[in-house]
Amino acid sequence: MSKGKVDALLGIVFGDEGKGKVVDVFTPKYDIVARFAGGPNAGHTIIFDGKKFVLRSIPSGIFAEDKINIIGNGCVIAPDLFMAEARELEDAGYDLRSRLHISKRAHLILPTHRVLDRAYEAAKGKNKVGTTGKGIGPTYSEKASRTGLRVGDILDNFEAKYKALKARHEEILRNLNYTDYDITEEERLWMEGVEYMRSFPLTDTEIEINKALREGKSVLAEGAQGTMLDIDHGTYPFVSSSNTVCGGVCTGLGVAPNSIGEVFGIFKAYSTRVGAGPFPVELFDETGDRIREIGHEYGAVTGRNRRCGWVDLVALRYAIMVNGVTQLIMMKSDVLDTFSSIKACVAYEKDGVRTTDMPFDTEGWQAVYDELPGWQTDLTQMTSEDQFPQAFKDYVAYLERQLETPITILSVGPDRAQTIVR
Ligand code: IMP
Repeated sequence: MSKGKVDALLGIVFGDEGKGKVVDVFTPKYDIVARFAGGPNAGHTIIFDGKKFVLRSIPSGIFAEDKINIIGNGCVIAPDLFMAEARELEDAGYDLRSRLHISKRAHLILPTHRVLDRAYEAAKGKNKVGTTGKGIGPTYSEKASRTGLRVGDILDNFEAKYKALKARHEEILRNLNYTDYDITEEERLWMEGVEYMRSFPLTDTEIEINKALREGKSVLAEGAQGTMLDIDHGTYPFVSSSNTVCGGVCTGLGVAPNSIGEVFGIFKAYSTRVGAGPFPVELFDETGDRIREIGHEYGAVTGRNRRCGWVDLVALRYAIMVNGVTQLIMMKSDVLDTFSSIKACVAYEKDGVRTTDMPFDTEGWQAVYDELPGWQTDLTQMTSEDQFPQAFKDYVAYLERQLETPITILSVGPDRAQTIVR
């Protein structure tokens, strides 16, 4: 933790690395936890004291009483989904209004953005991105087109602004011949969500964060999705629509580059991807099925099967480079406990060409692997590094050598307690 700085915690592959758990473990060290990009396409799972919560828009620091949580300007927010998520926490006894601040500059996801998401996907035929259907792409497109609505808009003459934007969306949908939808109930809940959101502190969060930094407070920026889903650096066009990389922390919270402290890059001991797009390490055999089953690799938002494969060092090196990762965090090590051998993708190959750099077009590349012995030992009960079997220590050392970055935290199970700091 760096005083007066923003530390970033970033998924560095295709998301679903387990950021929620790590933020929850890190929270006691920070004064503020802030989301800087994405929206309810994320699903951050947190398990403690036998309870499980899945957070979508709300930062994972929300369970600690004395911390401020911020939804930053780089985020997109759906009032109805926000209300459902927040009410669940309120029902569980958490007082949100005193500790959750929402940027007035964050953009609103309208019900018709979600319809547009479906309509655009339908129009793509077999080139579908496989989005979460939460309206993320249409909302960020609208932000870039300068026609979107922001959270601050709900404070003044909102009805008229909403109606005008909705009418534009309906026209686009008519032009796409996508008219078979009914959002009556959704819209009712959405408006209720807008009303509900008005009771939260809607603030200039960039001013608040910078003031806190000047006072020497510490901020944790909680990433969503992962680097390979970044709109600029991911496997475009099979990506999300925001900057999930470290640069997105600056634009999505309004903090200067020189205020960034540590950059924690979080990855799993293997790879997963949900949705369409190139994935050179994907396993179509029973090993892939085994990883999915043991790792419970089913989407937190959509319930879809996640595609599974071995760890991808080409993607990880690229992500470490574009994010300036200073420390790595390896999650779900225990999922590989029963495998007799473990592979790691060291390069991609296509038409006799081999590369260790992330190519422009990741389609059609085959993974080239190193093979290491598995540890075949249950890691889940281990509480310190010296209890680790040698083969696991060797795997960790191998990754650190390949990635030229230290792995400072190892997770060996879903509970807060199953986290080993080195
Ligand atoms: P969108 O963000 O809903 O537009 O979806 C774009 C792509 O990003 C799809 O392949 C989604 O499956 C993927 N995606 C979006 N959010 C997440 C996430 O939180 N974890 C993993 N994949 C995600």
